[in-house]
Amino acid sequence: MSFLREQARNLIPQAVDNHIWSVVAHRTTPRKAALDRVSEFVAYNQIEGDYLEFGCCGAHTFRYAFDAMRARKLKQHLYGFDSFEGLPKSDGVDVHPNFPEGTFTQSQEDFERVLQNHGINPSTYTLIKGFYREVLTQDLKRKLPLKKAAVIYIDCDLYESTREALYFVVDYLQTGTVICFDDYFCYNGDPDRGESLAKKEFLAEHTRVSMRPYFTYGWHGKAFICKLQEP
Ligand SMILES: C[S@@+](CC[C@H](N)C(=O)[O-])C[C@H]1O[C@@H](n2cnc3c(N)ncnc32)[C@H](O)[C@@H]1O
Repeated sequence: MSFLREQARNLIPQAVDNHIWSVVAHRTTPRKAALDRVSEFVAYNQIEGDYLEFGCCGAHTFRYAFDAMRARKLKQHLYGFDSFEGLPKSDGVDVHPNFPEGTFTQSQEDFERVLQNHGINPSTYTLIKGFYREVLTQDLKRKLPLKKAAVIYIDCDLYESTREALYFVVDYLQTGTVICFDDYFCYNGDPDRGESLAKKEFLAEHTRVSMRPYFTYGWHGKAFICKLQEP
């Protein structure tokens, strides 16, 4: 019996973790399709660089990205950034009934087991564990072999977390980098909250970068293509 439970845990983590994972699972089709479309864009345009995901616990989008890229024989390394302790405590503009502290917790061990069962070799990915405000540092940039981002998937829900992710990735952007914001229309679609607000502020403070709207997916997500002005 415990063997069966263990198998179920490996195969469908959303069924054994807290019920909020079912909310994530409902987004399967549009997210899969979005990552498929993005990887086709990357392959056709021969965009160099790696795949970065902010908010990877649950491993749904991480696996979709892996599948989409490998189907096109793309060799991107995958980077996953997550606390593996769920969402941080939020306040002010970030308060949302679905986003209390600790939501979406999955241990790194469970995450890696899901990847292993999906046939993803550990040599193809790197995980950076910790809360962004502590781990997204210049020191980390010096240590990572990362040069450019081809695709950035932002699924960390909160304004504060998205802001931290965007300020970290600025050095890896190039014309053609696709950024997918998974929760772009959360917070009642209010442009002054969540991922949408973080993007707006980031662009206002980085005038060399612009983001061309690419497509929306599901009710929640939106993808953009970056353009960088020459200095
Ligand atoms: C909705 S879940 C990610 C779902 C995942 N992309 C999937 O498809 O299964 C959001 C994740 O963002 C992470 N997260 C949000 N803010 C964070 C922060 N400031 N530092 C580290 N991790 C954060 C949480 O730990 C959580 O695992």
